[in-house]
Amino acid sequence: MVQTDKPDAIAMLKADHRKVEELFASFEKARGAERKQAIAKQICTELIVHTIIEEEIFYPACKGAVEEDLIDEAYVEHDGAKVLIAEILGSEPNEEFYDAKVKVLSEQIEHHVEEEEKRVEGMFSQARKAGLDMDALGEQMAMRKQQALAEYEKNGLPAPETRTFTGHELEEGAPVDDEPTARVGDSEGVRPAS
Ligand SMILES: [Fe+2]
Ligand SMILES: [Fe+2]
Repeated sequence: MVQTDKPDAIAMLKADHRKVEELFASFEKARGAERKQAIAKQICTELIVHTIIEEEIFYPACKGAVEEDLIDEAYVEHDGAKVLIAEILGSEPNEEFYDAKVKVLSEQIEHHVEEEEKRVEGMFSQARKAGLDMDALGEQMAMRKQQALAEYEKNGLPAPETRTFTGHELEEGAPVDDEPTARVGDSEGVRPAS
């Protein structure tokens, strides 16, 4: 009997990637704070769940089958994205830099997805070549995904959990000044009007 209900792990992760790319495209076209915030929340939810199933199930299974550096970098890239996800979830579309944060997150994700999906040397290719059981992994990930989504439905989205960033404190500096003070390359700076 053909098992159609068991998702292949890589097909499942790629489908998540495509979904999030579509959401980023919708965000770019969206107008109005409410609509933007709704899409941004969807993006963050998708990414939080996706990082969980990769970090808890897929990446550990890749250990020994995929180049170690590639896996380490993937964890760090996830943590980098989580910083922006937390920023976006904690702010409103009418705040300064909101759109920029979503845009930069999309660029970071684009790079990360490329590292996972790249032909031959990408993480998924290496994992497939090593003969990982993609049906079993897909099944585990699908179950974990359902569980996480049900939990968020009930209790709201959690703060993303980092796995490689060790929580160094960041200082919030003064707000960016819109007034030009000195131009780059202009060693004398801006001269007072005479
Ligand atoms: Fe991924
Ligand atoms: Fe990933």
